[in-house]
Amino acid sequence: MASNGPVLTERRASASDYLKFLHAWLRKPRQTASIVPSSPYLGRLMAAQIDPAGGRVIEFGGGTGALTREILATGLPADHLEVVEIDATLARNLRRSFHGVRILEAPAQSIVGDSAGGAGGYQCVISGLPLLAMNKALQGAILAEAFKLLAPGGSFIQFTYSPRPPVADVVADALDLGVERVGTIVRNVPPATVFRYRRAADIAQD
Ligand SMILES: C[S@@+](CC[C@H](N)C(=O)[O-])C[C@H]1O[C@@H](n2cnc3c(N)ncnc32)[C@H](O)[C@@H]1O
Repeated sequence: MASNGPVLTERRASASDYLKFLHAWLRKPRQTASIVPSSPYLGRLMAAQIDPAGGRVIEFGGGTGALTREILATGLPADHLEVVEIDATLARNLRRSFHGVRILEAPAQSIVGDSAGGAGGYQCVISGLPLLAMNKALQGAILAEAFKLLAPGGSFIQFTYSPRPPVADVVADALDLGVERVGTIVRNVPPATVFRYRRAADIAQD
């Protein structure tokens, strides 16, 4: 594991993480959308899409930090990571667990103004948001905000429990985005597939 100063004290998902997640689900089932945190295998596949020396990363929907932990394990400096979490209790726990990481207790669909990097300041958005449970208007607002944050060439990485891409075609088309399948992780409950969204112009340049 790469050196990350204080975050080396971090541990894998514990029974208390599962309980925190279950409580969040009981408070707001549609917003949490799962009763167990993502597995380390899923977190690693998502985190592998970032360049640890490539600048700022922002995570949408931090939950108990299952993806956060794997993002930091790549060697990305803690002060290059921000985590957005709408649930006050989960945000407070993330702040306690991940020293040096900026935790934003706010909705991902209006975060540019609160972000340290601002518009165009990020190489990657890693998202654990339950996009499939959201209506098209909210999906559109979240994707639009993500691509405001992303620098040219930047990627929006999203997992989903469906084999199909999680963003409605009409939403992706309106923002001129293309999608690529990264891979499927069966060692996750339930099995999950990771997709990468990029600006269609960036994909065309590959
Ligand atoms: C399915 S959980 C994923 C948590 C964690 N990333 C993981 O993979 O285990 C979704 C998380 O997104 C948060 N969330 C839902 N809607 C949100 C929004 N609009 N803005 C920020 N966070 C949101 C929920 O509170 C929850 O913690």
